[in-house]
Amino acid sequence: MEQLQFLNEWGDFRLGDAQRAPDVYFPLVNEAHMISSVTSCLAGDCKVDQNTFLLASASERTLVERTGARNFWVKAEGAAPWSVTGCSAPQLAALHTEAEEPCTLYGGLLWQKTCRTQGATGLEAETLSFVPADDARVEVWQVTLRNPTGHPIPVECIAAVPLYGRSADNLRDHRHVTSLLHRARAAAYGLDLTPTLTFDERGHQPGRVTYRVWAADEAGNPPRRQMPLTADFEGAGGPFWPDALTGTPDPACFCTEGGTAQGGEMTAALWFAPCTLAPGATRRYQVVLAIDSDPSPYLTPEGVAEALERTKAFWQGQVTMQVADPRDGDWGPWMRWVAIQPVLRRICGCSFLPHHDYGRGGRGWRDLWQDSLALLLQDPAALRQSLFCHFAGVRPDGTNATIIGDKPGEFKADRNNIPRVWMDHGFWPFVTCRLYLDETGDDAFLFEEQTYFDDGFAYRGEGARRAPADEPRRGTVLEHLLLQNVTAFFDAGDRGSIRLRGADWNDGLDMAAAHGESVAFTAAYGGNLLALADLLDRLAETRPTVALHPSLVHLLETDAAGYDTPAARQAALLRCCGEAYTAAEPTAMDTKAAAAALRGMGQWLFAHLRRQERVSDGGSLHWFNSYYDDHGRPVEGVQGDTVRMMLTGQVFTLMSGAADDAQAAEVARAVHWYLFDPARGGCFLNTDFGEVKTDLGRMFGFAYGTKENGAVFSHMAVMYAYALYLRGMPREGLRVLRCLYAQSRRFAAGHILPGIPEYFDGRGKGMYPYLTGAASWLLLTVQTRMFGVRGIQGDLELDPQLTAAQFDGQDLAAIRCRFAGKALTVRYHNPGHLEPEAARVGAVTAEGRPLPMISRGRIPRAAILALPDGAVLTAELQPRTTH
Ligand code: G1P
Repeated sequence: MEQLQFLNEWGDFRLGDAQRAPDVYFPLVNEAHMISSVTSCLAGDCKVDQNTFLLASASERTLVERTGARNFWVKAEGAAPWSVTGCSAPQLAALHTEAEEPCTLYGGLLWQKTCRTQGATGLEAETLSFVPADDARVEVWQVTLRNPTGHPIPVECIAAVPLYGRSADNLRDHRHVTSLLHRARAAAYGLDLTPTLTFDERGHQPGRVTYRVWAADEAGNPPRRQMPLTADFEGAGGPFWPDALTGTPDPACFCTEGGTAQGGEMTAALWFAPCTLAPGATRRYQVVLAIDSDPSPYLTPEGVAEALERTKAFWQGQVTMQVADPRDGDWGPWMRWVAIQPVLRRICGCSFLPHHDYGRGGRGWRDLWQDSLALLLQDPAALRQSLFCHFAGVRPDGTNATIIGDKPGEFKADRNNIPRVWMDHGFWPFVTCRLYLDETGDDAFLFEEQTYFDDGFAYRGEGARRAPADEPRRGTVLEHLLLQNVTAFFDAGDRGSIRLRGADWNDGLDMAAAHGESVAFTAAYGGNLLALADLLDRLAETRPTVALHPSLVHLLETDAAGYDTPAARQAALLRCCGEAYTAAEPTAMDTKAAAAALRGMGQWLFAHLRRQERVSDGGSLHWFNSYYDDHGRPVEGVQGDTVRMMLTGQVFTLMSGAADDAQAAEVARAVHWYLFDPARGGCFLNTDFGEVKTDLGRMFGFAYGTKENGAVFSHMAVMYAYALYLRGMPREGLRVLRCLYAQSRRFAAGHILPGIPEYFDGRGKGMYPYLTGAASWLLLTVQTRMFGVRGIQGDLELDPQLTAAQFDGQDLAAIRCRFAGKALTVRYHNPGHLEPEAARVGAVTAEGRPLPMISRGRIPRAAILALPDGAVLTAELQPRTTH
């Protein structure tokens, strides 16, 4: 297998021998919610939501089997039918033999191209696929045939697209019966399929969606005839050697404009008029897949070219952070692919790409907030309203709806309508809000009033469901945030940490709801409580009191002497839940008193963790226990003759500050010893427990090295790198990031196209590409920690942690990003080749003029607002101690 090569700084790439990678897929999506996946042989699917699939839903297996793949056949005179996608019986049989037909794959933001040559004739075929960045649910596909030989070649071309046209649920449930609902009509340019009904035994609905496959040749001429029924087209030969192409088709099976077909699986098999390709000539064919949209604008070569330019411009416009590495020219283009991943997840959620063959759409609570981190760095003002809307998902008991719909205010308790409480959910909104406040200085946001979510569950997922209130309770954003974090503090388990309940960040820890505790997120909440205390102290300067619901005030005023007793914390929480759903006049609480209460809780948690949760390998390595199982036992440390360790507890004790500086260094040493393997991407999630631990979670049922059980889970690994930077260990942080990058970048190792995948398995293969929270955290880490370009109460702070080797021959390291609505390039100049511990920011100039500073490295927002868009800032690095 060849290596994947970047062709330019924009991220365009080339992969040779792509026929050897049939499971590698490329995402094609747009804001209209057209979501396609496409492999080098054009397998993959195309849909807008769970119930509206034009091509049948794809999985890892169907990609390899090429089930339901788009196809385009060329019948050259004197030669057997040839598939330009490599999907014919002879081409598939030749794979991995001397007669194998090579395929070269090209990709860019966000288009894919494949190139093949027909051995028998010398004909060259390119396929170009993209989903236009337009308000249309269409996928465009263009086939270019070229005759490089010295003689004319007569050809007849046939596009063949199997039209599935229904809900993904019907793949298994009533697949045949739902095909009987199909009604197809031959339109002038192709086939329209409108099922009579959508099948749902709870109440069938009239079919309202039309699935289309239309096509035209170079001159915009329509296909001259078509054959709609799959059974007629394929006969006994099947999709890879259809009877209608290998034999003499029955004329009665064809239809022309206005013709209809009904009942059975449908294929848009479209025959173009035969033509002769002169020597050196090319001919382009446009094939457009559409769901309730008009394919016409894309049926000419000019229409396709214009749409492609719009699409490229749109996706390149989403890349607002750019970096380069003097030692590795591929880092910059690779980061461009990472930069669009949060946008892909905003559109797709965690569903609808072949590895992500679970979930019915919608976006998960914690993912939403974390993806917003990267989106915030691009344009915080644009995100304000969505963040505000998301707060309406918080319940008055501090828990929240877990699935958020595409429209503002659409919430669901859970994917499967089971009210579950993920104990980490209350943690993320403040992480995101804190970034928002720092990037913008918009403290007023905290005092906007928002409703609470009331679905009748009032006791944190437990207790009987009651009738929701007629008028939902309202409160400020600040109150929502306080409620989430303070209720978590009081949700104590028997061992003093916060109860695990349904699970935490690790979805796979879902079997310890009774006695499980997440020490990891106890640390995380501790950090939030302390940061909220700092925030309130700052706000107290202008707001001596804050208006809070009495239930929250009571909780804040709980006697700290009871913190040591989990039952007392639980009793206070129960009382709060009992009062929380009743509308009441807000109480004006002294802001400083509220801050002191929060600080007391945060400090109590940290002291508790330092006292109780330190574990060791029996030798010199020490770290923090991350969890308690459903028997109330700590899960880490020495068990028999093995050492058990998990990464999550280490990440959050570092990130929150629960680990003091000496402990932080110890944690980093222990992680490096027990949880690090550069050969498979770096930091993995846990050591092998060698047990299906049914008193903790399903993750232990997964094979070791996969998913949440010991994979290099990029999301947690990147958060680990972030935490290392935060704790002043940039070299260690950089090592973690470099390993992830190297594994993703080397196709032979990671087996993925550019971008960061959800995880690398035990063999180092990248899994679940594109849709992962790891991307957002990676962008955040690179910009705000590695390059140290970040907001602080709306001002710009420059505080890099770049190693001397990250500077180029001119002693410069640069990042292009956005701040205060401006595109900026920030360059650090390090003539003394200082390492990060020894360096600090000195003078900063913009366009040759010095910028004012409030304190070292902190530039007032007003000074940035006065700069032109695209300004270049140069910051001199100087030794930390000047004489
Ligand atoms: C996925 C889920 C995320 C969850 C994580 C661990 O992570 O989307 O909510 O916390 O698995 O179970 P991601 O896709 O962000 O890598």
